Amino acid sequence: MTSYAIETHQLRKVYRSLWRRQTVVAVESLDLKVPAGSVFGFLGPNGAGKTTTIMMLLGNVYPTSGSFRIFGRPITDMGVRRRIGFLPEKFQFHDLLTAEELLWFHGRLTGMDRHTLARRVPEVLEQVGLRERARSRVREFSKGMQQRLGIAQAILHDPDLIILDEPTSALDPLGRRDVRDLILHLKSRGKTVFLNSHLLSEVEMVCDEVAILRAGRVQRQGDLETLLQVHPVVDVELRTPSEQVLQAVREVATLLSANGTRFSAEVQDESDIPVLARRIVEAGGELMRFAPRRESLEDLFVRVVEEAK
Ligand SMILES: Nc1ncnc2c1ncn2[C@@H]1O[C@H](COP(=O)(O)OP(=O)(O)O)[C@@H](O)[C@H]1O
Ligand SMILES: [Mg+2]
Repeated sequence: MTSYAIETHQLRKVYRSLWRRQTVVAVESLDLKVPAGSVFGFLGPNGAGKTTTIMMLLGNVYPTSGSFRIFGRPITDMGVRRRIGFLPEKFQFHDLLTAEELLWFHGRLTGMDRHTLARRVPEVLEQVGLRERARSRVREFSKGMQQRLGIAQAILHDPDLIILDEPTSALDPLGRRDVRDLILHLKSRGKTVFLNSHLLSEVEMVCDEVAILRAGRVQRQGDLETLLQVHPVVDVELRTPSEQVLQAVREVATLLSANGTRFSAEVQDESDIPVLARRIVEAGGELMRFAPRRESLEDLFVRVVEEAK
């Protein structure tokens, strides 16, 4: 039997304005199942309700209706709260403190003892690549370094569920790779990572499962391998742009993007790939490149968000 780190049942959040004239349905009716020990990507366009969901899971925002459990327990359970680590989307640190002092401060707040902190603080600073900057003040840190420190803070008390709201938005490619490695390391130790990110190629590299949210509802949910194996995509380049070819392509495939001589088209299954090639040639297209590939998470995301409109 699969055990779940997070399970929500028809979770819903309606925000009301001060005068109750306006209401915003931020989360419509959310059914999520996040297997314990998995890396789970929680995706969706801006305003889809991701941060609101996370705030409910943390017990910071009260659901309008529905319910959820974390490791089978309600969030009012202090024992389960201690098992969660969190990196907020927007964080503001006491920037006069040094990195080390800040972690001590957060550690003491979560009830960690001095002995454990003396061991853990250098350990997590090392893990996020900030060991040399332990004694620097946070105000001297770049946005990327602050984000690393935020991640160190989230994993400090060795939580079993780590919730990261946009953990790599301020990081350069090397920083992102470090965070990716860190996430995989956490997973190898049996931790569950619940991740919200717009960097889909990144998500694709680390996540086992994803849910794609739009307007407060889950549009797709499942393990990445299965979700992405449905429709092959072909990247095509012609010698010259041709509206006639695009027209012919639309008859046998879904055009995902088109730009001058290049376009990407999605077919129903593998047997349609030679059909597509034939159509292009018959419509007068001169093929410079014809490269079938697996659908990427980004293709899936675009398709799911577009078709739900
Ligand atoms: N505190 C709030 N009060 C009123 N509306 C809010 C509040 N927080 C978020 N919203 C609205 O709820 C919707 C979902 O927002 P959010 O959860 O932040 O989405 P995401 O994180 O996916 O971008 C948006 O329409 C947003 O404007
Ligand atoms: Mg958000």
